[in-house]
Parts: sequence; structure tokens; C-alpha cells
Amino acid sequence: MSEMEDIVAREAGPEGLAALVAAFYRRIRTDDLIGPMYPPDDLEAAEVRLRDFLLFRFLGDATYLENRGHPRLRMRHFPFEIGEAERDRWLQLMDAAMDEIEFPAGARAVVMPFFGMVAESMRNH
Ligand code: HEM
Repeated sequence: MSEMEDIVAREAGPEGLAALVAAFYRRIRTDDLIGPMYPPDDLEAAEVRLRDFLLFRFLGDATYLENRGHPRLRMRHFPFEIGEAERDRWLQLMDAAMDEIEFPAGARAVVMPFFGMVAESMRNH
């Protein structure tokens, strides 16, 4: 594990990442711009997918890979029209979720730039 990922493990851990994703999906539920893209009847499963992905990426937990295979995030986002506004909204909701749960500052400094890079690379519009 890299030193940066180690900070996420020590400061946030699986509980912190799970709490973050739960707070993010509470916001997705009522979001007017990107909320409608998410499956209304399957939000809990979507929450599990993002949570497991982060547990894989930052903590090396293999559950995501076992259930979903290779992430192929860009391909999996093709069905959704993602431009600058959608990218920015996703990042704003994540930022607000971090404020809400008081996500630890060191972990935030590692995870947020990662989200920024991935969000930009999901843009297909
Ligand atoms: C840029 C704005 C973004 C939008 C509008 C967006 C939207 C979506 C939507 C609608 C889904 C389908 C929900 C589901 O059923 O799982 C999804 C899945 C997912 N997104 Fe995003 N997303 C964005 C950025 C990101 C970023 C930055 C990450 C990086 C952590 C990410 C990670 C994922 C993962 C892991 C899944 C589940 C993939 C799977 O099917 O296994 N997304 N996203």
C-alpha cells in the first residue's frame, strides 16, 4: 500500500469510507441534476458498488473485483451524459458529504484529488 493510501486506511478505514458513501447517496437521492441518472429502485445496490470500489481502491479489499470484475469505470459511465455540470455536481455532493461526516483531513487530501481526476475522465459530453 502506498503511503497516501495508508493515510486513508489509518484515518478513515472501512467505516469512514462506508459513512462517506452513505452520506453521498443521501444527497444523490434528492439531487435535481445527477440524481435522476441513478436507479431509483436500486440505490442501495449502487451505494454498495461505490463503497466496495473505494474499499478496493484504497484498502485493497477484493470484494468489488469479485462481484463486478475489472472496474472499467469509463465504459460503465457511457450510458450517462456527463459534462462539466454533472462532473462538478458529483464532486460538490462528495465534498458536502465529507463536511457532514467530518471525513478526516489527511484522508480527504488523498481521496478528493483522486475523485477530481476520475470525475474529469468520466466526462463524455
Ligand atoms: C463525474 C460525475 C459522475 C456521475 C454523473 C456518475 C454517475 C454514475 C451513475 C449514474 C452510476 C450508476 C449507478 C449504479 O447503478 O451503480 C455510477 C456508477 C459508478 N460510479 Fe459514477 N459518476 C460520476 C463520477 C464517478 C467518480 C468520480 C467515481 C470514482 C470514484 C465513480 C465511481 C462509480 C462506481 C464505482 C460505480 C459503479 C460501477 C459498477 O457498476 O460496478 N463515479 N456513476
